[in-house]
Amino acid sequence: MNELLSVFKRCGIEPAEYMGGALTVCSPIDGAQLAQLHETPASQMNEVIARSKSAFLQWRNVPAPVRGELVRLWGEELRKAKQDIGYIVSIEVGKILEEGLGEVQEAVDICEFASGQSRQLCGKTIVSERPGHRIMEQYHPLGPVAIITAFNFPSAVFAWNAALALVCGDPVIFKPSEKAPLSGLATFKALERAIARFGDKAPEGLAQIVIGNAPLGEALVDSPAIALISATGSTRMGRAVGPKVASRFGKRILELGGNNAMVVTPAADIDMAQRAILFGAVGTAGQRCTSLRRLIVHRSVKEALLQKLLTAYSALRIGNPLTPGTLVGPLIDEEAYNAMQKSIVAAKEQGGKLLIGGDRVLAKEFPNGFYVQPAIIEMPEQTAIVRHETFAPLLYVLNYDDFDQAIEVHNDVPQGLSSCIFSNDMREVELFISAAGSDCGMANVNIGPSGAEIGGAFGGEKETGGDRESGSDAWKQYMRRTTNTINFSREMPLAQGITFG
Ligand code: UN1
Repeated sequence: MNELLSVFKRCGIEPAEYMGGALTVCSPIDGAQLAQLHETPASQMNEVIARSKSAFLQWRNVPAPVRGELVRLWGEELRKAKQDIGYIVSIEVGKILEEGLGEVQEAVDICEFASGQSRQLCGKTIVSERPGHRIMEQYHPLGPVAIITAFNFPSAVFAWNAALALVCGDPVIFKPSEKAPLSGLATFKALERAIARFGDKAPEGLAQIVIGNAPLGEALVDSPAIALISATGSTRMGRAVGPKVASRFGKRILELGGNNAMVVTPAADIDMAQRAILFGAVGTAGQRCTSLRRLIVHRSVKEALLQKLLTAYSALRIGNPLTPGTLVGPLIDEEAYNAMQKSIVAAKEQGGKLLIGGDRVLAKEFPNGFYVQPAIIEMPEQTAIVRHETFAPLLYVLNYDDFDQAIEVHNDVPQGLSSCIFSNDMREVELFISAAGSDCGMANVNIGPSGAEIGGAFGGEKETGGDRESGSDAWKQYMRRTTNTINFSREMPLAQGITFG
């Protein structure tokens, strides 16, 4: 505990902030109380939003590469604090320290990406059909951006959005998950230090954090002043947020549920597939949006692969995520544990055969921690429960005989985030990533579905929400595009050859 207090101190989280508040934050490791944070009263949301609006009027005029300098400093602060923030992520969310550190690295990476991008916010120049005319595009800052994140990536997903929003000229309001506000706060404090170093050009209210539950999110979602809502979480949350933002013609980035699969063909390197499955299905205790949930394996290689998997699963080190060597930490809470149990019961009722795992472990040592043995269930077909996302280390195995059938089963779920194929047959591989292949936002070859780098656009189709964040050209969503047609001739020709008057 003393260790945690010194980490708080180094991260700039003051006792007045983590003591005496109404939001009790507990560690999933052992249920120990970590902090009592003060919630932002819903009545303050109007002020928060007003501050963001006036910050926008100034920030949009700061040249983009100068805005990029602020984000570069944020990256520097995050690098310095990597160990501490990674520790908070691990203790607050239960992911192993190695993954906690990886998450902060992901935040550093996006800062560096965004800082470079700040010199590349380019539009096109387009030829005109009219003589003496030119068409061009410009990207301008959009307005205040609200970032609502989930518990499982409490640092990186905030950084994905805030780093891009800030270089694009948009102030940010961050509402971390009430299950992981400390990691968010520590990441935010690093941004505040960067802002202090950056100096006067950063207007007051450029970056704000609000701590609390649903009503704060609702205030952001409902406010016409918030130009873009970026929300990560369940499909249920997205169904509530999406239509509300749409009804006021706001912009949104939704990053919702996934039901990520791997197709393993007879041409796969089975050893590599097994290693990717382990990280994909068991890493972060199955609590990534991108976690591997379905294995669609050719009948001829199923037994060999399952044998390897069962051996690897029985040797998994489950326990305190801060202990070196642990691979599987706890689930976030009892509710997550119950949801996993419910899915296992449903899967069995639907003809599934539990091959390994599912039980709670370490209950004596950690009566208030919910550790489970990751489970594998062989299913006769893709039943209702397989089509449902359970946020836990629960992997369904399905057989296939011909490749077209594998793709059909692969796509026959409501979600469409990430996917992958293991095969060294170029026909299978190219088909899988072609228009007739995986219908997901991400389709990988010979690597698992999770653990994406920041350089690519991240997101998915169907019930995943249809939007993209992080790398590639995701920055465009944080800006508004203007198309400018410029006449440098002395004539007034109309387009489409129209003569008028
Ligand atoms: C999430 O689970 O919401 O690709 C984000 C990954 C990570 C990000 C996951 N880079 O698994």
